[in-house]
Amino acid sequence: MNRRRFLAAGLASLGAACGAPQVKSDSVSARVSLAEVRRLVAERIDPVAGRCRYVADLGARQVVQPILFARRGEGFDALIENALPQPTTVHFHGLTLSQAQDGAGFDPIPPGGRKRMRFEVRNRSGLYWFHPHPHGFTAEQVYAGLAGLLVVTDDEDQALDAALALAPGNRLALAVADVRVENGVIRPYAPGIRDCMQGWFGDKALANGRLDANWVVAPGWVRLQILNACNARGLLLGFQDPHADNKESLVPFHLLGTDGGLLAAPRALDRVFLHGAERVDVAIDVTGRRELQAVSVEFDARHHTQGAAPRHRHPARERYAPLAQESVCETPEPAEARDRPADGAELALFGLRVEGASARTPALPARLSALSEPDPAPDTPTRRIRLDFDERTGFLIDQTPYAIDETGYSVTRAAREVWEIKNSPISMPHPMHVHGFGFRVLRRQGTFGAARRLATEPGGRFATDLGVKDTVLAWPNETLWLALDFTLPREAAFGGPQRYMFHCHNLEHEDGMMMRNITVL
Ligand code: C2O
Ligand code: CU
Ligand code: CU
Repeated sequence: MNRRRFLAAGLASLGAACGAPQVKSDSVSARVSLAEVRRLVAERIDPVAGRCRYVADLGARQVVQPILFARRGEGFDALIENALPQPTTVHFHGLTLSQAQDGAGFDPIPPGGRKRMRFEVRNRSGLYWFHPHPHGFTAEQVYAGLAGLLVVTDDEDQALDAALALAPGNRLALAVADVRVENGVIRPYAPGIRDCMQGWFGDKALANGRLDANWVVAPGWVRLQILNACNARGLLLGFQDPHADNKESLVPFHLLGTDGGLLAAPRALDRVFLHGAERVDVAIDVTGRRELQAVSVEFDARHHTQGAAPRHRHPARERYAPLAQESVCETPEPAEARDRPADGAELALFGLRVEGASARTPALPARLSALSEPDPAPDTPTRRIRLDFDERTGFLIDQTPYAIDETGYSVTRAAREVWEIKNSPISMPHPMHVHGFGFRVLRRQGTFGAARRLATEPGGRFATDLGVKDTVLAWPNETLWLALDFTLPREAAFGGPQRYMFHCHNLEHEDGMMMRNITVL
């Protein structure tokens, strides 16, 4: 498929991720080329609910809540404008960028400030995303709507589309988030004590900013690239056919790719874990069906924390007078919270309606990409990392609360390391994310029974663990082994030591400073 057709295919079907959800006319959004964006503005449109959005300025026109589209090798050169009353940053999650372009929290753009961002997309094709990362404000801003998608394509990606003979509109990029809705309006972010410990969970799902979102697709293959953009909720993604004899049974699909792009070969599944910030690329043959409903199937989310919830400090907030007054993480839980679907409860995500005449569905290609996943050499050094919970300080990485200027982990440029990450038995699931470097999940140990039964891959791994990863879930009591390669491009922008982050992508844990710096020397 050529690029024009690709753009057109995405256009009609993408929604907006910000604005009061009952205003459907506001849901105008488009897939725009990364290279077209001149300015990217983070703005707040509704001071009551605090809803935020990105606006891309393309010179002649503006696109609200853009879905950015780039070919591998393409450049981004835009001014980021912060029109929020809080500091912000724009972090492109999953891309390999220099420290100066990474948009991590140690490099905030003040309210009213601007920053020029210039970089080249070096990563493989895949679904990446961008979101704010200011220390202490990330959860609030992402929940308020500041998250956007970046779809990267390359030759392998386009060859796959051609092999699937995708009809226009049958390829979708979707950000799924959960929100608290009251009388059709999204409630503003106001975490209490328990939210700050377990995460801020919603009761309804948004897909690209819409409640009860639905897309019309044609019979044949549908390719969905899906991001879990929830602050804290894990999803066990599956698809149900409401017209089937058994409405609960799950429709088979194929996993094509994960965080960092296509797998070498597809995997046939009927459900797949998708935790905070993880992505999956799936193909479903919808021929012969009228409708499909994407759901998160019920699972045991294994929250094993007991004891007091720590007061959750937001040191970064204290520098902004109006915010320092607001109490976050201090109020006890209101009674209505008991009705909210807990982490792991079933949740409807979005729907697909199938319309049009059936054509022949081609066979799924047996090979999707040239990805090879060699095991690390036996002498690769292992770094041991421990995730813990402390009743006074909260969740910790190696017993150390984050400090902006800490060194954390020092690694040598181009070094290969195995990271052994052990989560405490008295803990929660933590989706752990490394900036800048894709990694491979080697194996898991200590997974509890209910989750272990969903481990379909060698080494006790889940299907979501395959391929190039940037975020991986650590269940309580688990030990994970990851293979990392700290190679950086040889370009001026990457000269000198580069600082990246390693953190939990449960955004309340991240704001609670469950983070460390990684310095690449
Ligand atoms: Cu998606 Cu450091 O984050
Ligand atoms: Cu990131
Ligand atoms: Cu966490």
